[in-house]
Amino acid sequence: MKLTEIGWNEFKALSLDEKRPYLEREEKDSLPYHTLFAQQFDRGVLERLCALANRIRFINKSREGALYLKSILAHKRAMLYFSQPSSRTFLSHLAACQILGVTTGSVRDAATSSEFKGESKEDSIRTFSSYFDMIIMRSPEQGLAEKMAWELSNSSRSIPIINAGSGKDQHPTQALLDIYTLVRSFENNGGLDGRTVVFCGDLLRGRTVRSLSYLLTRFKSVKQIFVAPDELQVPSDVTATLEENSVEFEISSDLKDAVKKADAVYMTRIQDEWDASKGASARIDTSAFKFNEEHLALLKKEGCLLHPLPRRDEISTSCDRDPRAMYWRQMRNGMWIRAALIAATFGYEREIMTCGY
Ligand code: NCD
Repeated sequence: MKLTEIGWNEFKALSLDEKRPYLEREEKDSLPYHTLFAQQFDRGVLERLCALANRIRFINKSREGALYLKSILAHKRAMLYFSQPSSRTFLSHLAACQILGVTTGSVRDAATSSEFKGESKEDSIRTFSSYFDMIIMRSPEQGLAEKMAWELSNSSRSIPIINAGSGKDQHPTQALLDIYTLVRSFENNGGLDGRTVVFCGDLLRGRTVRSLSYLLTRFKSVKQIFVAPDELQVPSDVTATLEENSVEFEISSDLKDAVKKADAVYMTRIQDEWDASKGASARIDTSAFKFNEEHLALLKKEGCLLHPLPRRDEISTSCDRDPRAMYWRQMRNGMWIRAALIAATFGYEREIMTCGY
């Protein structure tokens, strides 16, 4: 199945599972061509990407290894097109490109591009595809990365797109780094299967929550507990997906109780940039949805605390030095798993896995 064989409106109307085959390559066992949503990654692919990320971080430790990695994609260029604020996602993709020798260009503010003169996003993307071999894009618009993937696949220069966050709906590469962090956290301790993951904060509008909740269904018997004020509780499409996959979950407003049951706690910030009226989130009482030393005292010894960042006050800085506070390592893991994804997207998984370093 190819994106050239289906019209945009027809493609748009498909479910994510139905869309998936259109985004794959023809070769058997290859990784996705476009990375647009979490549903594209099954367990086997996740394990391969984690293994590739581990391999890249190991090879990169020596000067010779680092120089070898830098030669791998020295013939490729990537465009970082971020029309929504970003620190970590932008910088970790940039650093991942640098590790692999990919040269980059960027637009971080549509006001500095021809979009300001009224150019459509479709025309902007076609422009980028004339100069680059991959587009890594973030946008406030839900589904824009999908639309652009369709546009490019139907143009004379099809290049892969990586969705670095689209609207409130998906953030697949964040979910990859969250999974990589969880897999590493439990690797010497029985693995991720059978664990309990607590999500807390703005679960309604947090795209990282939707993508990670889905990827956790790829593991066996991972229970999910959603802790949030009623106004910001997890949306029904997420729980419907869990039901379809027979995943056990709980809806709660009691963070302490949830932390006692948790193997991992995933805190998120209030996403007030999506407020319908200014200050609407500030009127919600979120005081019971912040993690501090009292919660840390209730968390298992082998448990871990994650946050996609940026944080405001959802995690007290007094927790930062605890070995279970994983958010700094999680952030660095983002660079390695994104390097793995970019290398695999360009077809270099095998070469890196089997090289002599
Ligand atoms: C998240 C995002 O942009 O969705 N940040 C990130 O990519 N690390 C979460 C957030 O902004 O709260």
